[in-house]
Amino acid sequence: MKVLQISGGTPLRGTISAPGSKNAGLAILSAVLLADGESVLHNVPNVSDIRIKSQLLETFGAKVRMIEGSLFIDSSDICFSEPEEDQVRLIRTSFYLLGPLLARLGRVRIPAPGGCKIGARPVDYHLKSLEAMGATIRLENGWYFAETNGLKAANLYFDFPSAGATQHMMATACLADGITTIDNAAIEPEVTALAGFLNSIGANIEGAGTGTITITGRKSLQGSVYRIPDDRLQAGTYLLAGAITGGDVTVTDILPENQTALINKLIESGVEVEEGPNWVRAKSNGRMKGIRVKTMPHPGFPTDMQQPMAAALTLASGISAIEETIYESRIGHIPELRRMGANIELQGRTALITGVKKLDSAIVEASDLRAGAALVLAGLAAEGETTVRNIHFIDRGYEDIEGTLQKLGASVTRIEEESAGPKEVLS
Ligand code: EPU
Repeated sequence: MKVLQISGGTPLRGTISAPGSKNAGLAILSAVLLADGESVLHNVPNVSDIRIKSQLLETFGAKVRMIEGSLFIDSSDICFSEPEEDQVRLIRTSFYLLGPLLARLGRVRIPAPGGCKIGARPVDYHLKSLEAMGATIRLENGWYFAETNGLKAANLYFDFPSAGATQHMMATACLADGITTIDNAAIEPEVTALAGFLNSIGANIEGAGTGTITITGRKSLQGSVYRIPDDRLQAGTYLLAGAITGGDVTVTDILPENQTALINKLIESGVEVEEGPNWVRAKSNGRMKGIRVKTMPHPGFPTDMQQPMAAALTLASGISAIEETIYESRIGHIPELRRMGANIELQGRTALITGVKKLDSAIVEASDLRAGAALVLAGLAAEGETTVRNIHFIDRGYEDIEGTLQKLGASVTRIEEESAGPKEVLS
């Protein structure tokens, strides 16, 4: 099994560019099935979630080619199919194919999304919304079977601004009859990115990026060429890598306005931040200071940055408090950071972190994608050689993490470790 071997203690310095966004890419890879003809996606991140999703599209009859960071997807001849349950359960967004396939084919059978280590993550908003749009859905032996005689527009409201439900319903409504509205919609940049793609294939979407989205359904949509925007979460992780190691890191090809919460929290913790039209620089001014962080839907502090930020704050002076409000159990990083000498106490949904002067190297195991990123950050700052196991989680959402960190001067290598502990199942 491969592991990341990190020799910590070097301040990271330099400039890197952010790859394409995993989460925007995954959302677009569900919506692409709505279009007749070929769509071409550029700036596709080379991460495992995207590769798995692309393979899944082929199961439904799409023709997919990947050429140097671009995906060519022809969804002219999509067909009813029963995908492998294990394959679908590898990534949660497989489930978001349900609406687009239903709109195109009138019937779909797809397994329920797999379990996950960060929270329950129900799909009730998705199911209720599709039913409101005229689908009948039943759950049989862990598989959803959905049928419709034609989807119609509906007025949808989510109790919580779910990114996934907003993306799934916004895409599905593009082929529903009439005008659909989504209230309390998510305003994450990945929602706006998806709307950009959908409008490029001929959809009529207004209000994406606000709490109310209006979608006027079309009879059909045609493939287009679209560039996936850059990944604010990979970018944020590398800025934190600069901060935790006492370094100076610039990430280019990003929109600073999508990083506002992280930038503000970095400044509050004593990091010097500069921004330009498409770049952000985080320069350490010595030890970070303890701060309070609360995860919120965009533009609040992103839950996906919560675990990497926790790693950074383990070395801050004073006490930090990080409250996770989105996922009830996004805490897999905590026991592993403690192995490295971090002082973290969990009180309900709040991690109280008393900063320590140094972290020790250790063998640690990623429990999910962002927990893995947090452990890599800790390893970069720790004294000695840290081994991070279960790096398939990291590969889900970070493109060539070791190569990127090496460009910043880090000593990180991917090596084969013979006895690297129990195998984890992706979820
Ligand atoms: N929720 C419900 N019912 C639903 C849908 C969501 O109760 O039907 C709840 C969830 O349980 C959660 C909250 O709403 O408490 C927010 O979930 P959301 O639907 O927004 O999350 P998601 O779409 O499943 C995406 C990202 C996550 C990211 C969240 C929040 C993708 C593939 N995933 O998940 O990214 O944390 O939005 O921004 O886009 C990651 O990249 O590491 C990751 C987990």
